[in-house]
Amino acid sequence: MTPTPLIQKLRERKAKSRLGGGKERVDTHHKKGRLTARERLDLLLDKGTFREVDPLVVHRTRDFGLDQQIYPGDSVVTGWGTIEGRLVYVYSQDFTVLGGSLGEVHAEKICKVMDMAMKNGAPMIGLNDSGGARIQEGVVALAGYSNIFLRNTLSSGVIPQISAIMGPCAGGAVYSPALTDFIFMVRNSSYMFVTGPDVVKAVTHEEVTFENLGGASVHSEKSGVCHVAADSEADTLFLIRKLLGYLPQNNMEDPPFVESGDNPLRMDEALDQIIPDDAGRPYNIKDVITSVMDNGAFFEIHENFAQNIVVGFARLGGHSVGIVANQPAVLAGVLDIDASEKAARFVRVCDSFNIPIITFEDVPGFLPGTIQEHGGIIRAGAKLLYAYCEATVPKLTVITRKAYGGAYCVMSSKHIRGDLNLAWPTAEIAVMGPDGAVNIVFRKELEAAADPVKRKAELVAEYREKFANPYIAAERGYLDEVIEPHETRPRLINALEMLSSKRDSNPAKKHGNIPL
Ligand code: HXC
Repeated sequence: MTPTPLIQKLRERKAKSRLGGGKERVDTHHKKGRLTARERLDLLLDKGTFREVDPLVVHRTRDFGLDQQIYPGDSVVTGWGTIEGRLVYVYSQDFTVLGGSLGEVHAEKICKVMDMAMKNGAPMIGLNDSGGARIQEGVVALAGYSNIFLRNTLSSGVIPQISAIMGPCAGGAVYSPALTDFIFMVRNSSYMFVTGPDVVKAVTHEEVTFENLGGASVHSEKSGVCHVAADSEADTLFLIRKLLGYLPQNNMEDPPFVESGDNPLRMDEALDQIIPDDAGRPYNIKDVITSVMDNGAFFEIHENFAQNIVVGFARLGGHSVGIVANQPAVLAGVLDIDASEKAARFVRVCDSFNIPIITFEDVPGFLPGTIQEHGGIIRAGAKLLYAYCEATVPKLTVITRKAYGGAYCVMSSKHIRGDLNLAWPTAEIAVMGPDGAVNIVFRKELEAAADPVKRKAELVAEYREKFANPYIAAERGYLDEVIEPHETRPRLINALEMLSSKRDSNPAKKHGNIPL
């Protein structure tokens, strides 16, 4: 049927909007190996579910030649769709239109879908690819960013917010992603920084490339700004879909239950042998995690940052769980500044979104030294302590080996509302390890000993026998039970089900004052 002239006009307008910055700019964008804003949404969302809003919005700036550069929809595509059948709201910045720069109406479009996401209690996903504040719009662009920052903050802990950095993300623009729960980056194709290489050179005389200043490797390994780095845009979008499977739609719901087909009573005898006889020898805690979790699946967050602690999502008996595990294979699993902050943030994400926390503990303590002390390990460690203390979701702890000193208290101990605290017979729970303890307690005796080396070995053995085991804690009820390692999976699943109606709360307050 021939469309009426009015319908024809509407179709033309919408078609123009779908063209973004035009064929030439789209071609240039593709040549850089990048997908367009709409192609990205096609990959992110279930096929055919994207519903766009504001495709006809245009900017109102007439200065600096912008009256000649008006593109319907401006430089961002917004709307909603579904991922695995569940509603999500999205925005995807269009670099082909004025470099994806954010002006007044670009910000208004984003704010509109953010408000809808909050009202309807569904996740908000932002795909960022932008030259930042639209220079021609001046303070109006800054106001636009501020409106987004406010919404990011008010949405925090209410709906999951996920940011993907698909291209440049410069200036204050980095702060909207930084306020969200998870940041994904594309390796060798995306970067984030507050000031670019030119400004860096002018101010500090450092010469640095975009990649070395704020590429995905820097942020996923050194700064910890990026939670997940992927090799391509398609992988990044796929991983966002996967992550959402572990999260609820909002803080009033539970995460989805997914029948995994893995027997909840499955036991793994290999766990009985996994702890080396020599307490100084490492093993890989990820082997424990994959053995215990459904189908060995583990969605790791911050995989390459602060690897002395491991965090991520998995399923246990079909229930979504967050895992925090010391990693004895890296720096002996010690807690340092980065590890403390990484885990604290993760614990708070889990607590915000009703995801039970499983802690696997093998930690010799906090990392000593001037770098750590001067860098504020006290404040960083307190963040982790605070996060665990305030968390009211089910908290299950398994001490596999070392639980020494302050780190024992911090890592979801019974005293800070651990719901079920288990230990393996290989657990060592004390104020400090045998070596350090003997050096302090028996210093005078060792100085006076005829054969100090022999005497020290005897004392260390005595200490180990007396203190480096789980039984003093078990006798006091600080552990709920000492279990055989192979029983870990069924015991944790049983505990999760036992705790499924858990209710706990914190005293009424405006908000706590976590040490920042
Ligand atoms: C207006 C912009 C723009 C911007 C890019 N463009 N950024 N227009 N405002 N912020 C335009 C360019 O003029 C160009 O238009 C087109 O987008 C593509 O940009 P190119 O430079 O040709 O692309 P490329 O070489 O890939 O470089 C991308 C870039 C670069 C690295 C992002 O454009 C750049 O450095 N932009 C400025 C980044 C920046 O400093 N932004 C302000 C940050 S401060 P034409 O028509 O020539 O093709 C900020 C404050 C936020 O954001 C505060 C919040 C608190």
